[in-house]
Amino acid sequence: MNLVERIRELKRKRKAVLLAHYYQRAEVQDIADIVGDSLKLAIEAARTDAEVVVFCGVHFMAETAAITCPDRVVLLPDANSGCPMADMCHPRELAELKSRYPDAVVVSYVNSSAAVKAQSDICCTSANAVKVMKSVPTDRPVIFVPDRWLGQYAAERAGRSRLIWADSTRDLAEREGEGAPVVLWDGYCHVHHHILPEFVREAMAKHPEAELCAHPECRDEVVKMARFTGSTGQILAWCSSSEHREFLIATEEGILHPLRKANPDKTFHPVTSLAVCHDMKLVTLEKILWALEDMEPRVTVEAETAAGARKAIDAMLALSA
Ligand code: 13P
Ligand code: SF4
Repeated sequence: MNLVERIRELKRKRKAVLLAHYYQRAEVQDIADIVGDSLKLAIEAARTDAEVVVFCGVHFMAETAAITCPDRVVLLPDANSGCPMADMCHPRELAELKSRYPDAVVVSYVNSSAAVKAQSDICCTSANAVKVMKSVPTDRPVIFVPDRWLGQYAAERAGRSRLIWADSTRDLAEREGEGAPVVLWDGYCHVHHHILPEFVREAMAKHPEAELCAHPECRDEVVKMARFTGSTGQILAWCSSSEHREFLIATEEGILHPLRKANPDKTFHPVTSLAVCHDMKLVTLEKILWALEDMEPRVTVEAETAAGARKAIDAMLALSA
């Protein structure tokens, strides 16, 4: 029996469901029961009746599943697959920022720890960040953590022009504008942050017919050049339904696999071959098999933190229903 057959057999035996993010290795996406963006995977994890969830993604995603389905076993095939951006926001520092803006609504991107979510009013993903931002009354300040680029994108699309950036020394730089401010944490995804505007200009010059699609974790300058901006799932839907035949993709390279699979007659170019999330690539078929054999590594969240985080996740899911 080959590796894939052994995984399938053990998956049946354990009554497990295998969820995979679009940034996972192609062979991992191909064996998954459900492949999706962060929002789809959070929704699927919350509604699964499987006894075991094998989360092929990074730690915060498995943690979110452990929070929304506490009676299931949640396995993360490589316990070291973290998200450097999630690690940029420490709950203690967030508590300090909250004390400066006591009436602020705290919006946390799902790419954050359970402890940060527990201090938040509502979560968001890149698919619904604008909707979540719009749900906050304009006379209430917002603290957005940890992605400064997604926060800026969501604020601007929601018509909020008064932005305050907290820099690494926690000095605050303010952009004048109407209404209550949006205070942006100074975190970023290193993969998207390093898709530089000059790489985009070079790629556009090389492929002048291609339409640029960008993820909102990209820098503001890159997002402003794009024909379409959205989550990985939204980029896939946009390219699949478009009449256009050629696309330039400004996000992690894993998305090229489902894009090409769903659209064999269209051409997709990455803006740069450097856009690789090595944490996402830690999950391999072998590690999935070992996880199912050993029922390890498990991801659990302490009850009080989970209860706090659940409120923020449920507030987001209610808005996305
Ligand atoms: P989405 O799949 O929600 O667009 O998320 C991107 C990401 O960086 C996940 O880590
Ligand atoms: Fe984190 Fe970026 Fe990797 Fe997503 S792609 S897991 S945001 S480092």
